[in-house]
Amino acid sequence: MKKFIHLSDLHIGANEKNLENQYLKVIIDHILQRYQNLKNKPVIMITGDITNNGDKEEYIEAVKLLNRFKESGFILKIVPGNHDYGYCGNVYTKESQENFKKYILEDLLELELVYTDEGLLNVYPIVEEVNGVVYIALDSVIDKDDELLHFASGEMGERQLKKLANILKGYIKTDKVRVAYFHHHPVERSLFLKMDDAQKVMGVLSDVVDFICFGHKHKEEELDGSQYGVRHILACGKSTEVKKVGDIFGPKKDILTYKEISIKDRDSCSITKYNLCLT
Ligand SMILES: [Fe+2]
Repeated sequence: MKKFIHLSDLHIGANEKNLENQYLKVIIDHILQRYQNLKNKPVIMITGDITNNGDKEEYIEAVKLLNRFKESGFILKIVPGNHDYGYCGNVYTKESQENFKKYILEDLLELELVYTDEGLLNVYPIVEEVNGVVYIALDSVIDKDDELLHFASGEMGERQLKKLANILKGYIKTDKVRVAYFHHHPVERSLFLKMDDAQKVMGVLSDVVDFICFGHKHKEEELDGSQYGVRHILACGKSTEVKKVGDIFGPKKDILTYKEISIKDRDSCSITKYNLCLT
């Protein structure tokens, strides 16, 4: 069985006492313990907003925490969110994007990428195969990233989509499981939450990929993918946010959650949600 764990929107701060930093540590401790005896560790997928402001100090803290996955034999898959490329997710800075490149792509993921004068514009899609599952990383922040409204809502851009369509052609006749992952919401209709070119993105992904995983809205849900011919469209909530659960008869409990996706083949998978009780 092949597995991946979907996390998103960590919003790690520069100070290790930051609540998000502490909650991520709790999640990592839990995952390391749960899978310690499993030879083939699940892939850890994080769909953006690793940091809150894209600062160097935040990236250093994030890498320090996430490195524990690597040291324990987990493979990490990470794409950027709008918060990774600029202050509060609203103002793009080249410096923040460079920080993502240096600390996440090069130091943490150890990707050997070819950069042009255009920086990260030519880097995505990044396609990697793990145990017969094809993971396709997309950057939904990159296009027109210097335009304020585009930045929060996201856009993949014509060039990335053309490359994506070509890549997917190579998998149509295979039985490999295909997972596309990025930050912004591909079908949400609210202002600032849906990618500007969402319709084109879904046009390329429809009937070809098996999973579409994303974050951004901080709301966990599984969408009906039947109209797109996609078996699973998974929105991850903010993984470092505490939720309250319980009924009217007892005290509410504070929990953190994450989802494990177990894949047998293209037609068979199971999704398990784990609750980590903090109180
Ligand atoms: Fe976020």
